[in-house]
Amino acid sequence: MSEAYLGKSLSNVGEKSGQIGWRSPSNIALIKYWGKHGNQLPQNPSISFTLSNAFTETIVKYATHSRGTIDIAFTFEGKANASFENRISAFLNKNISYFPFVNSLSLSIESNNSFPHSSGIASSASAMSALCLCMVSLEQHLTEAVFSQSEFLQKSSFLSRLASGSASRSVYPSASIWGQHSLAPGSSDLYAIAYEELHPIFATMHDDILIVSKAKKSVSSTAGHNLMKDNVFASARYEQARTRFSKLLPALQSGDLDLFGKILEDEALTLHALMMCSDPSYILIEPNTLALIQRIRAYRYEQKIPVYFTLDAGPNIHLLYPDDVRTQVQTFIQEELRQHCEDGRIIEDYIGTGPARIDSLTLTSS
Ligand code: DP6
Repeated sequence: MSEAYLGKSLSNVGEKSGQIGWRSPSNIALIKYWGKHGNQLPQNPSISFTLSNAFTETIVKYATHSRGTIDIAFTFEGKANASFENRISAFLNKNISYFPFVNSLSLSIESNNSFPHSSGIASSASAMSALCLCMVSLEQHLTEAVFSQSEFLQKSSFLSRLASGSASRSVYPSASIWGQHSLAPGSSDLYAIAYEELHPIFATMHDDILIVSKAKKSVSSTAGHNLMKDNVFASARYEQARTRFSKLLPALQSGDLDLFGKILEDEALTLHALMMCSDPSYILIEPNTLALIQRIRAYRYEQKIPVYFTLDAGPNIHLLYPDDVRTQVQTFIQEELRQHCEDGRIIEDYIGTGPARIDSLTLTSS
């Protein structure tokens, strides 16, 4: 247990009710978190770009009670959702020492995603960070806890990590590091920190998500992390991730797009190679994922344009490119890549400014 983040109980359980809301974005890892130990601790440092258009909005309505039990109801996109409700309930129960005030509250949690539920886009990073930001806001609002802005974000990141590792990185704008590394002062396995040394070329980075399949993945990320425990390449992989991290940070600072792109693509392919050599092995990429990768690489070699792919734990391609090549790349996408996407679906995204408070849900349920 991390004493620094223990929560405060309600000091004075009067009749109180109200609501608190946050919008929180998804993120795309450049160096991947793949393998964990202990209580949600990463085997290697990871770094991600925070996205903008792919986000979750969560409103937590609360009313005080004195029963001393967790009492939550959860709706996703306007409908009761038992499986998400159980996951949130299990998370709050397991970590109640960080949220003791929750035992004095009835919570009605409403959540919507900006991206279609069945788009194949993982939502745990945005969903869990939005929830945890709400929880830390609630603690600040209802108890005597006082947080500076950086303490607030650090605690939110710490709690988000306990809910889903990658969610720890979503609470910061632009780019974020989770996991201790000597080149990143202040970095920690317990929470993510903001990475603020990006070269301006990355401030305009696009991330278009080419949807190869909307199907729910056959093996969850949590199960994939577990399979790393017996993967014969595990220790070499963790060492490789640290080495790539050391090489990527200077490239992010200097704006070296060639090196950035090489590491980005190597990481994506390594992630999926690790899945293929797990026991049991499994494959999440699809024929169209490979078709897109081949085409993107060929286009880059022919045109000498900085456009690179990465993947998360699924078949969909994230296409990263700076804004100054937007026109050419978007023509290339329409003419040559869209045909490989399911129903031609592409989610246009870019580096974003991080989470924001909201007073109500702004998205309509899809
Ligand atoms: C491939 O954060 O979804 O996207 O901690 O079990 O919830 P849990 O896993 P999760 O894993 C994300 C894996 C990844 C790489 C990354 O985001 O770094």
